[in-house]
Amino acid sequence: SGSKDDGLLPKDKKKPKKIMPNFFLAIRVSNPQIHSAIKIVQDSITTYNEKLTPALIPLATLHLTLMVIHLENDEQIQKAKEVLNQCKISLDPILQNSALTITFSGLDHFNHQVLYVKALGGEEVLKSVVNIVRETFTKEGIPSTDRREFSPHLTVMKLSRKPMLRRKGIKKIPEESYVSWVDMSFGEESVNSLHLCSMNKKKEKDGFYKCEATVTFIDTANEPASTEAENTRGEVDEAQELNSTGDEEQEATSSSTALCDENAGEASKMLRKTLLMRRISPRS
Ligand code: C5P
Repeated sequence: SGSKDDGLLPKDKKKPKKIMPNFFLAIRVSNPQIHSAIKIVQDSITTYNEKLTPALIPLATLHLTLMVIHLENDEQIQKAKEVLNQCKISLDPILQNSALTITFSGLDHFNHQVLYVKALGGEEVLKSVVNIVRETFTKEGIPSTDRREFSPHLTVMKLSRKPMLRRKGIKKIPEESYVSWVDMSFGEESVNSLHLCSMNKKKEKDGFYKCEATVTFIDTANEPASTEAENTRGEVDEAQELNSTGDEEQEATSSSTALCDENAGEASKMLRKTLLMRRISPRS
């Protein structure tokens, strides 16, 4: 969406240059049932036209974006970590005790460029979570780089992952490739943590984005004491995804050790049992 000079606007009235996001706040979607259902849709798209395959989102990176931001340097990354911790204080009463479960159901698209699963159940709580996150970051000087209103979506495919497709004449995601699944139920994700993720840094070993920070919301009803978080790792997702070349927008540039503590099923339950409070610590 780069702004091209169309010659209609005098120079001083040109739109200001769009600031590109390089980090985002997200909920990881790791329920294996949701992954399996999305794989059915993705396989169907591949069967329709295998040239579309590079536009599919690897299952290991599935997430729901709450906000996209631009962080210029380490200092701003540090600031963003602190702001996420600040969000946690406001979010604790909302998200503790697994109070947010998102139901994913049905397919929709943004302008035929992005195919996504709709987030239906839990939408109201989700919206208040997003409002808190967006307001807190904006108040602390880290505004969203995207002016669009929050529209909950779990992306399964986007053409921008592979600009070559557009050059080859594939300008839209063909509806026939996924039409059988538009009313499919994908499953539920219980939200226990939020992540500050890098779009450009090398993905973690489990295939998910590098998380600069994670805040975790604990089931206080069952937990007697507070402990400092250990680094924990999720299960490795399907091996094929580890070989993924990743997004054009979100491609690897550097390596690092792992810290991202989000994952599926049993591991997630264990995590909730072991952690009462997670503090964001500076990364090496
Ligand atoms: O990574 P994520 O799932 O958030 O990617 C969604 C894509 O959909 C992004 O490329 C974003 O620019 C696009 N989008 C859109 N219209 C919206 C929200 C997101 O085209 N209302």
